Amino acid sequence: MALLSINVDHIATIREARGINEPDPVLAAGIAELAGAEGIICHLREDRRHIKNRDLELLKKTVKTKLNLEMSPVKTLIDTALTIKPDLVTLVPERREEVTTESGLDVAGNKKEYTSVTGTLKEAGISVSFFIDPDPDQIQESLDAGADIIEIHTGFYSEAVSEAEILREFEKIHEAAKLGSQLKLKVHAGHGLNYVNIKRFSSIPEIEEYSIGHSIIARAVMVGLDQAIREMINLVSQF
Ligand code: PXP
Repeated sequence: MALLSINVDHIATIREARGINEPDPVLAAGIAELAGAEGIICHLREDRRHIKNRDLELLKKTVKTKLNLEMSPVKTLIDTALTIKPDLVTLVPERREEVTTESGLDVAGNKKEYTSVTGTLKEAGISVSFFIDPDPDQIQESLDAGADIIEIHTGFYSEAVSEAEILREFEKIHEAAKLGSQLKLKVHAGHGLNYVNIKRFSSIPEIEEYSIGHSIIARAVMVGLDQAIREMINLVSQF
């Protein structure tokens, strides 16, 4: 049985569109846990465009399942992780201009740095996950660098258009999951997964956990909109 962790960045993105204090990703995390999510993920970006240090601090105090801090392996964020001590850190590459994470880590090209960061985090009792493309070399390099978990980047699969391309990208994920599992790494997957494209993954038992954000928040808006409107109509109709 695969597990689901929820990324609450998108709640913070809506909050930041107004620069006020709602909706609160911390409250959303509590609701996600009550609904059965096995973990809460937030991405602390260098530009703090959505999740703020305040969110991370409160999530650390309130999350009862496990807190997965996504971040790029830069000194200031590593220091923050060492202070907050989330259960898990997922290392991701970060470009300031990107709208969302665009690709996996180049572990081979940054082996020394990632090995050292991973060692530091693990010494502090924090598990480490590497977000990588479904590429056998990156998987082997992740193992060598000390990762406990690999999160396979499913974005290329999610964005594929033709059936041939979809199948090709899915097969890469399948092979990557099998290799990761053979190497005794925990295998997670995420990025761009939604209520339709996730169905195919029933054939990959090696994936233990999925990290999903956008599609769930997008659906929540749509399935919750009817009730939210009715409640406001109920209020204004009494005037
Ligand atoms: N995993 C990683 C490493 C990510 O960067 C993201 C996006 O923040 C996700 C999973 C979740 O992706 P999505 O929001 O498309 O479900």
